[in-house]
Amino acid sequence: MDLYEYQARDLFAAHGVPVLSGAVASDPDEARAVAAQLGGRAVIKAQVKTGGRGKAGGVKLANGPDDAGEKAEQILGMDIKGHTVGRVLVAEASEIAEEYYFSFLLDRANRTFLCIASAEGGVEIEEVARSNPEAVLKLPIDPLAGVDLDKGREIAARANYPEAAREAIAEVIVQLWEVFVAEDTTLVEVNPLVRDGQGRIIALDGKVTLDGNASFRHPEHAELADTASEDPLEAKAKANDLNYVKLDGQVGIIGNGAGLVMSTLDVVAYAGDRHSGVKPANFLDIGGGASAEVMAAGLDVILGDPDVRSVFVNVFGGITACDAVASGIVSALDMLGDGASKPLVVRLDGNNVAEGRRILTEADHPLVTLVETMDDAADKAAELAAAGV
Ligand SMILES: Nc1ncnc2c1ncn2[C@@H]1O[C@H](COP(=O)(O)OP(=O)(O)O)[C@@H](O)[C@H]1O
Ligand SMILES: [Mg+2]
Repeated sequence: MDLYEYQARDLFAAHGVPVLSGAVASDPDEARAVAAQLGGRAVIKAQVKTGGRGKAGGVKLANGPDDAGEKAEQILGMDIKGHTVGRVLVAEASEIAEEYYFSFLLDRANRTFLCIASAEGGVEIEEVARSNPEAVLKLPIDPLAGVDLDKGREIAARANYPEAAREAIAEVIVQLWEVFVAEDTTLVEVNPLVRDGQGRIIALDGKVTLDGNASFRHPEHAELADTASEDPLEAKAKANDLNYVKLDGQVGIIGNGAGLVMSTLDVVAYAGDRHSGVKPANFLDIGGGASAEVMAAGLDVILGDPDVRSVFVNVFGGITACDAVASGIVSALDMLGDGASKPLVVRLDGNNVAEGRRILTEADHPLVTLVETMDDAADKAAELAAAGV
C-alpha cells in the first residue's frame, strides 16, 4: 500500500527523521488556519498518490494565510495524472540550499535491499539515471548487517553528497533505515532531501510503500488505508478474505487455488480470441475450503462488477470435495436470489466429481451450464460473454 506524502511524513517524524511542520487541509478555510498557525510563508501541496506534483502545478508557495487559502482553492479538485486532489498538505516553507535524492527499496530482481542515492535530487531519479548515470549510487544493503552510522557515512561519501552535509545526512540515512525496517516497507523514498539555509538536512517530500504481507504485524497501519478511494469490489473482497484482483475483461473467474485461477485466466484469454476478443474480468481465488458462504461471497463480488457478462467457476475438488462445492454453488445462488443474473459456466473435477455433477444437474438452475473440461468451459464462458456484449 502506497501512503500519501503527509502519512509518510508522520512515519518519518515518529522515527526521528527531520521533517517540516504542517498539517493536512481539505478546504481553503482549513488551509488558511494551518498557515496562520505556521506563521509566515507556507507551501501548499496536493496530496495524491503520484509523483511530479510540482511540475503539474500541485505544489505552490503562499506568502501568508489568505494566500494559502487561495492557493489551496486552486489546487483542491485539480486532476493530477488521473488523481483528483481531495486534500492538501500545508507545510512550512523551507529555504532550500540544495536538493538531494535518497531511497531504500526492496530489489526483487536481485533478492536484496537496495539504497539509491544521488546529490542530484528534486528531479525524477530515472531522468538523472539516464542523463548522468554516474551521479546515481546504487548499493545493495545486507539485511542482517543493516545500516548503522558507519554505513550511513559510507553511503553519504559514495553518493558524493557535499562534504559539509555528509555527517548530518548519514544520521538521517540511519533514521530512514529504521523507518524502512520497523514499519515493514518495500520503499522509503525522499526526493528531495534538502539542505536548508542553516545547513539542516530535512526530508521535504516522502514516499512510503508498506508491505501488505506484513500488515498482520502492524494493526496500527490499518487506519492509513484509503478506503474512500479504494475500489468498492476490492474492498468487499478484502472484507471477505478473498484474493481478488479486478481486470478489464468481461468473463468473471472463480477458482480454488492461485495456480488453477492463473491457468484459468490463460485459457479464457485464449478462448476470447475466438469470441470477439473478450477477456477475463478478474482474478478470484476462493482458496481450498470452498464453502457455500465463501462461494456466495465470491459470486457476489463478481456479479457486482458491471463489466462482467458471464462467470466461469472452475473448481478442482481436493480437500473440499466436488459435492460440497456443488452444494455450495447451489446454495450461493439461493442466497443471492435475484442478485444472480448472469450466466455461470461450471467445470468441476477431482474428488467426488460424479456426485458434484449430479447435484448441479439435479438443481437445474437456469443460469448454470455444466461443462466437463476446462477448455470447453472457457470457450462456453467466452461465447456467452461475447453474446452479452
Ligand atoms: N516545504 C517546502 N518548502 C520549499 N519548497 C518546497 C517545499 N515542498 C516542496 N518544495 C519544492 O517543490 C518541489 C516539488 O515538491 P515535492 O514535494 O518533491 O513534490 P513532487 O515530487 O510530487 O513534485 C521540491 O523539489 C521543492 O523544490
Ligand atoms: Mg518529490
